[in-house]
Amino acid sequence: MMYVCLEGIDGSGKSTQLKMLWKWLEEYGFEVISVFEPTDSPVGRLIREMLKDSTASGPDSQRTLGLLFAADRMMLMEKILEAESKNQIIISDRSFYSSIAYQDDEKWILEINKHIKKPDLVILLDVETQSALSRCDGKDHFENQAFLEKVRKNYLKLAQKNNFLVVNANNGVKKVHEDIKTIISPRIGRCI
Ligand code: TYD
Repeated sequence: MMYVCLEGIDGSGKSTQLKMLWKWLEEYGFEVISVFEPTDSPVGRLIREMLKDSTASGPDSQRTLGLLFAADRMMLMEKILEAESKNQIIISDRSFYSSIAYQDDEKWILEINKHIKKPDLVILLDVETQSALSRCDGKDHFENQAFLEKVRKNYLKLAQKNNFLVVNANNGVKKVHEDIKTIISPRIGRCI
């Protein structure tokens, strides 16, 4: 029915907002499934291990990660297509847009993800890197200010080009949830 994705840098509050959105949509009477990337598949687990390594943001690791993220995502497609066929709403924590923002090689990422289904709607939780970092545990190598600054810029460029809905995630959890509901309501209303 509809594939909605939340995007944003580490510490932008995606997981919290995803849970709140899920609850609200269910109360609204929709059948909802949620997915997340990296997934909990063996490939997803390998990715999480690699992200802890200090070389993770280097060019070679970024290419390897780009391929692994694409493979992990490919395995998720069946679940997404099945949910669509059942008229469910899919809400996703990240998508291939994360690969464009983090692995930072748009042309190649689009190429290796060309068989991946694009989300119908992307909500970008935009947040200052400093406050985002204060919410991170610092275990992943991507969780550092300079790197996340670059990722945030990439997201804002992607948002313009691809009509993401941008939400100011510097606000408190409740306000961000209200803003997400406001922008999503007319869009799901059309699908009923
Ligand atoms: P994250 O959403 O932070 O997972 P968790 O909340 O379980 O830690 O994702 C893990 C990291 O993976 C995060 O730093 C973003 C990064 N990532 C990429 O670099 N490329 C991708 O394609 C995806 C999906 C995630």
